[in-house]
Amino acid sequence: MPMFPHTRLRRLRRTSALRALVSENHLKCSDLIFPMFVLPGEGQRQAIDSMPGIYRMSIDLLLEEVAQCLALGISSFAIFPVTPQEQKCLSAKEAFNPNGIAQQATRALKEKFGDTVVVITDVALDPFTVHGQDGIIDDAGYVMNDQTTEVLIRQALSHAEAGADVVAPSDMMDGRIGAIRFALENEGFESTCIMAYAAKYASNYYGPFRDAVGSAANIKGGDKKTYQMDPANSNEALMEISLDLEEGADMVMVKPGMPYLDIVQRCKSELKAPTFAYQVSGEYAMHQAAFEKGYLNRESVILESLLAFKRAGADGILTYFAKQAAELLHQKSS
Ligand code: PBG
Repeated sequence: MPMFPHTRLRRLRRTSALRALVSENHLKCSDLIFPMFVLPGEGQRQAIDSMPGIYRMSIDLLLEEVAQCLALGISSFAIFPVTPQEQKCLSAKEAFNPNGIAQQATRALKEKFGDTVVVITDVALDPFTVHGQDGIIDDAGYVMNDQTTEVLIRQALSHAEAGADVVAPSDMMDGRIGAIRFALENEGFESTCIMAYAAKYASNYYGPFRDAVGSAANIKGGDKKTYQMDPANSNEALMEISLDLEEGADMVMVKPGMPYLDIVQRCKSELKAPTFAYQVSGEYAMHQAAFEKGYLNRESVILESLLAFKRAGADGILTYFAKQAAELLHQKSS
């Protein structure tokens, strides 16, 4: 008997048509959620040094950008307001201003695009506090859970009133999902969804985002370790996610993304809930840096990085590569 492999897995890899026939996971434009930074004013477009290719934009330009993304097949957008320093204070009351930037942007998007877009708003206080923390602090600088939740409720309601399809608490206070769900139901917003940043780690990959929203200088090198999770923990993430689901989250998210795909995988396989992951600003920045240096190939690496989320079990991905990825997916299919 000649020696040869009984099973040849390479047979199904021989041509691209065969590979397509057996591919287990697919990245689609509808999997992509585009995070966008919104500025006050008109005609404003500012580059972000640590995020080449991403801009802070005023609402008029945001509407144009969203129209282009819709044409590419991206319909979900996560809105992050850039708040002028003079509107920040200890009580973060700008967070629930019905005419705040996030509320205005939400209204404008829903007025112009109706239900063809999914508008996701960030529920957290860091863009509105003078110290850049996600909550109300006591004299020692500790973020107070229940006092913060009271403000988050008002913020979430103001987003729902503005027409947000999904409110996304990214603050990591205990019990806030239940409290926000209760308030939404009470005020007649029973159809407003909650996407919980359920397992959000105290990560060092958020640096460029903090530059983008202008909270980096305010944090002054501090961290968020008393409320965001310890990167050492995995079982605790499952507890966080389970609690948020019990409290009424419709969707859960793991953040950051690529270094935490084990958590995405556990979340999907153990809890079966609609699962999202956030490829965060630092992940975007390091990819862009490698592309600019010519160390990595832009086109293929972007799509590979996003497909990895699908393989891990994510139903969707928040990514600053959303628009580039959608363009690449169209090029591939044409
Ligand atoms: C804050 C918030 C952060 C991000 C989303 N919402 C930063 C933080 O927790 O300090 C990070 C997103 C990114 O890095 O792309 N509530």
